[in-house]
Amino acid sequence: MSPARTAALRRALLRWYDARRRALPWRERVTPYRTWVSEIMLQQTTVAAVVPYYLRFLERFPDVRALAAAPEDDVLKAWAGLGYYSRARNLRRAAQAIVAEHGGKFPSDYDSVLALPGIGRYTAGAILSIAFGQRQPLVDGNVMRVFSRLFKVEEDVKKAKAAAAFWELAARLLPRRRCGDWNQALMELGATVCVPEAPSCGLCPLAKTCAANRLGLQDRLPVMPPRRAWVDLRWSCLWIEDAGRVLLWKRDDKERFLRGHWGLPESRHVKARPGRLLKTARHTITHHRIVIDVREAALAAQAPPQAEWVSRAQLGERLVSSLWTKCLP
Ligand code: ADE
Repeated sequence: MSPARTAALRRALLRWYDARRRALPWRERVTPYRTWVSEIMLQQTTVAAVVPYYLRFLERFPDVRALAAAPEDDVLKAWAGLGYYSRARNLRRAAQAIVAEHGGKFPSDYDSVLALPGIGRYTAGAILSIAFGQRQPLVDGNVMRVFSRLFKVEEDVKKAKAAAAFWELAARLLPRRRCGDWNQALMELGATVCVPEAPSCGLCPLAKTCAANRLGLQDRLPVMPPRRAWVDLRWSCLWIEDAGRVLLWKRDDKERFLRGHWGLPESRHVKARPGRLLKTARHTITHHRIVIDVREAALAAQAPPQAEWVSRAQLGERLVSSLWTKCLP
């Protein structure tokens, strides 16, 4: 694209963003911590779902030090319902690294930010451009969709070749100033106008330059990979109750799912005599469809240290994922 057309495109999108940007809590006052928490929550989760969680999280953990000092169970509890819980665990670990290695101040150089747990190229670009005003590009699913349509990129978006093309475009189009607004404008356009199904091209500030709009390719772009096939799993969980208390199990870091969570013990975790089937629950995690049989059981040996007796009334405080609340008989 010629420099003049690039300049016109930047002006059109920034003007649109100034007029149409959504009022979102993390945009009211911008700090590295607030930007970071919002960007982690927004991964794989919609703005509408994130807003109430974000407000509660910021009240509960107002800064890096508060988050670093919190027990992991408390952070998971604040995340309960958002899913992809490794995001919460990494957030807390990164806060601890910021306290230990950067005196509690969010680092502002790219390599230090990228070295933090849970922060990849996208999140580093978002924090540095939005909160520090640095000239860093970013690419997320929204940006890929916008670029794919705007420039007719016909590569499968999950392929490395496509990623390289999108990052190069992001770097090339990035204006010299207002990089944080520019990055947010691209994402905002993807989230509100250039949506996956039936995009609102009539409202798009870039419609005149858009290859997909000109050629009627909106429905064919971006080229998505075939959906991952479902994997069916069956779990056998134990309801071990004694004198009004239930045996819970703290899942360790070697688990495939729900690492660090309290849950019901599975039959592979404890020695127990299984009894009658109390309930069958269903839950999906990414592309895994899990069917969980919950059986009454009696402990056949002493409870191992990873287990704890918890009163029925306190189960709600320990069980974070809805996978477990669905299992309660
Ligand atoms: N999606 C993820 N982060 C975003 C942001 N900062 N603005 C708009 N959409 C987003």
